[in-house]
Amino acid sequence: MKAVTWHGRRDVRVDTVPDPVIKDPTDVIVRITSSGICGSDLHLYEVMGPFMGEGDILGHEPMGIVEDVGADVTKLKTGDRVVVPFNISCGTCYMCGQGLHSQCETTQVREHGMGAALFGYTKLYGQVPGGQAEYLRVPFGNTLPIKVPDGPSDDRFVYLSDVLPTAWQAVHYADVPKGGSLVVLGLGPIGDMATRIARHHSVSQVIGVDLVPERLQRAQNNGVETLDLLHYHGDLAEAIRGMTNGRGPDSVIDAVGMEAHGSPVAKIAHQVTGLLPDAVAAKFMQKAGVDRLNALHLAIDIVRRGGTVSVAGVYGGMADPMPMLTIFDKQIQIRMGQANVKRWVDDILPLLTDDDPLGVDSFATHHLPLNDAPHAYETFQKKQDGMVKVLLQP
Ligand SMILES: NC(=O)c1ccc[n+]([C@@H]2O[C@H](COP(=O)([O-])OP(=O)(O)OC[C@H]3O[C@@H](n4cnc5c(N)ncnc54)[C@H](O)[C@@H]3O)[C@@H](O)[C@H]2O)c1
Ligand SMILES: [Zn+2]
Ligand SMILES: [Zn+2]
Repeated sequence: MKAVTWHGRRDVRVDTVPDPVIKDPTDVIVRITSSGICGSDLHLYEVMGPFMGEGDILGHEPMGIVEDVGADVTKLKTGDRVVVPFNISCGTCYMCGQGLHSQCETTQVREHGMGAALFGYTKLYGQVPGGQAEYLRVPFGNTLPIKVPDGPSDDRFVYLSDVLPTAWQAVHYADVPKGGSLVVLGLGPIGDMATRIARHHSVSQVIGVDLVPERLQRAQNNGVETLDLLHYHGDLAEAIRGMTNGRGPDSVIDAVGMEAHGSPVAKIAHQVTGLLPDAVAAKFMQKAGVDRLNALHLAIDIVRRGGTVSVAGVYGGMADPMPMLTIFDKQIQIRMGQANVKRWVDDILPLLTDDDPLGVDSFATHHLPLNDAPHAYETFQKKQDGMVKVLLQP
């Protein structure tokens, strides 16, 4: 089959690889019909190289049609339409029972001290072949795949794999009080969707921040107040306080993560890891503070005293400097983590109707054949061609 594979920093290719096969009796094989490229894939494309292997199959936002089922699969049959969550969770362990599917005790990558395995996402997360491919082996066929109805286009359901539950959890964790205010840093797919969900939940004031004109425009079109990061030279927080009774917003969502614009020192560290042998670079990434923390530090600065910072953006360093004095003194609540995808599906599914309150049907800016993946990665990273969300169609 054809699959999108990692070969090095900014080097992804479409290779021919062996078809996946059923290994465990509860596995299913899914023929992929749509597969998103995520901001998280950009971390693999750029800074997480030390944790990747040559030829690793990327992708964790797939959906498709069940092609084959293992002997013990009772809940799905060939021909069923399914979305595959990005975390690989068993659905039956203690953590899954708590709604903490990203911490699944059956798939935790203990060798690296990490939570649940993820599709297509580095050795730290189990090095499991991903879903930007023609076929995908999916374990836990009775509990993991999300069965969706035939009829509407893939666009209606594909974001259940990641974007929707991630943005949903970010808004939930932000815990905006009734009548309160929310700032969303980053208006990529996750931040954009978080603003839509917040407005759907009737959050009174939603302010979005980014630096890409068409991303700002997209949010404005949905009634979100926006601020262009590039217009404020270090005084963005002051501007936001001016819009929020002088105190700052009740809650801030960081939907940026470690690729943040505006952290030059960390940028050098990233370049250094790019020059080191993988084993050394991996240690360096884990032990040294190399993340670009610009967005997180901004969130801590902006949020009002006693407010909540909800971190959806991915960070990957082990010793990143944090302004503990400010966090403690401002009494900030911070919540974060990989989305617990299965936890939120039942809440979100009723919104995926013809009325389309979250605008999923028109959310993707690009639908491209799998063969165009190398170009799509580059365009998405450079934020060119109006690209906000790409769906690859194998
Ligand atoms: N927690 C989870 O489970 C989960 C799931 C999916 C994605 N993510 C993470 O969420 C983040 C966003 O993902 P995405 O798909 O929307 O990616 P993206 O890269 O398209 O979006 C990031 C946006 O932030 C903007 N930005 C950069 N620096 C900024 C700054 N200093 N202030 C404000 N905005 C800034 C960029 O212009 C971009 O539009 C990534 O870090 C991704 O890894 C987390
Ligand atoms: Zn993702
Ligand atoms: Zn589990």
